[in-house]
Amino acid sequence: MAFNSEIYNDLEVRTDLEGFHLEAEGHDDPWLKRPATDCCAALLMTGRRLQCWPLFRGAERRGNRNDGEGRCAEARIRLWRGLIEGRFLRHQIYFSTGAVIIQHILLTGGAGYIGSHTCVALVHAGYTPVIVDNFSNSHPAVLPRLRQITGQAIACEQGDVADAAFMTDVLRRYRVQAVMHFAGYKAVGESVAQPLKYYRNNLASMLGLLEAMTAAGCRTLVFSSSATVYGDPHAVPMTEDFPRSHTNPYGHTKLMIEDMLASLCRADPAWAVAVLRYFNPVGAHPGGLIGDDPSGIPNNLMPYISQVAVGKRPQLQVFGNDYPTVDGTGVRDYIHVLDLAEGHVAALNALLEHGQHLTVNLGTGQGHSVLQVVRAFEQASGREVPCQIMPRRAGDVAQCYADPSLARQLLGWQARRSLAEMCGDAWRWQSQNPDGYRFGAPAAVVPSRR
Ligand code: NAD
Ligand code: UFG
Repeated sequence: MAFNSEIYNDLEVRTDLEGFHLEAEGHDDPWLKRPATDCCAALLMTGRRLQCWPLFRGAERRGNRNDGEGRCAEARIRLWRGLIEGRFLRHQIYFSTGAVIIQHILLTGGAGYIGSHTCVALVHAGYTPVIVDNFSNSHPAVLPRLRQITGQAIACEQGDVADAAFMTDVLRRYRVQAVMHFAGYKAVGESVAQPLKYYRNNLASMLGLLEAMTAAGCRTLVFSSSATVYGDPHAVPMTEDFPRSHTNPYGHTKLMIEDMLASLCRADPAWAVAVLRYFNPVGAHPGGLIGDDPSGIPNNLMPYISQVAVGKRPQLQVFGNDYPTVDGTGVRDYIHVLDLAEGHVAALNALLEHGQHLTVNLGTGQGHSVLQVVRAFEQASGREVPCQIMPRRAGDVAQCYADPSLARQLLGWQARRSLAEMCGDAWRWQSQNPDGYRFGAPAAVVPSRR
């Protein structure tokens, strides 16, 4: 008897994880009245929801009692309990035959700064990541380090996210359940000098990915947006309903992609999309193995300070000390990259559980001035950071910090790490890896598990 997946896909078992209370739905489904030898079901946990689908024939050979209506549900529950009693790994299903089905979370640009830290947070949360990266702004040496931190090899496919055929193949081969899209260029100044490079890569990679996801039937996406979409904000703290604008081509690509995703969700409600507007991610994993590794002269404050502290650059140029702020220097919402990574896991959980379209700020809600960051870094590193006051940098705003309450409300997430931890972890990364990933023996891409 052939399986009719249309029937089985409608079946669901819901669970209250805390209490292990299981409640089977769909008892009236004709499938449950079929002879036991016809089929069994596998369970997949998506967020806190269990979904069932046909597994294979001959379930009774594995000791599941299947002698009447409701028994298939019992078999599934037993499978699920087995899963919990064994090592609890979300999105992995163990069959009694020894086979394992793993659903992956795909991280485009996962070898980069934020993607690599999110990879760690995903593994800790029980997910299985797979990375796609073309290493245009990262280094394969991050992969063995991720393995060292997480204790498992992270599958990685080298390629361009704009290549929809390649991406469709990856999505299918790894049974990708959801995608986190980090891939893109991010240097504001470079985007002003080379706008087409930014429009081409950021928009083409988003389009290629969305086409591939549509073809592969995967419609759950977390997108890396930025506080840059607020342009020059009229007030602080910024809430998600503030007017959006752009002041450079990089910011324009983020704005266009946000609009593209909103249109897609309107056209097809099956899409579940989280747009995450990052404020200023800084810091590193506390182990000092992974961190921000900018090529050339750093554009951003924290990596620049780190390079001054480690002796690679003579002094920090402070862009403006005549802003209407606590000490005249620019104020930003610095957020530890691991808090940001955990925000991604919270967003993924929410998407898999509720399947909605949401847009949230990921920030701490606290502003720090340039000089406050310099002092905190000096304290964390024990090194002096000489500063030279310069004119204001074109395009900078005086203050930019988030109202993060919507993320707390919708995702149950909030940033926990202090500025001192951000500086301490950034310093550990910088001092242990003065030349970033480029120092030492060249590392090969860790072969994928397939
Ligand atoms: P990153 O440059 O360290 O990481 C991006 C990764 O994407 C790199 O590994 C790069 O090699 C890869 N990549 C770029 N284009 C690609 C393509 N076409 N195909 C495959 N791989 C490609 O940057 P990050 O700091 O980790 O930022 C990640 C995302 O977050 C970006 O979209 C960025 O715009 C956004 N963001 C970053 C910040 C920040 O301050 N770091 C702030 C707001 C938003
Ligand atoms: N700054 C200096 N000297 C430097 C670098 C920066 O004084 O060498 C100052 C800037 O003037 C600003 C503050 O430090 O007042 C922070 O500057 P960054 O360049 O680190 O960060 P931005 O807030 O300008 O921009 C960053 C990302 C953008 C992103 C934005 C909001 O670079 O891509 O955060 O998320 F859009």
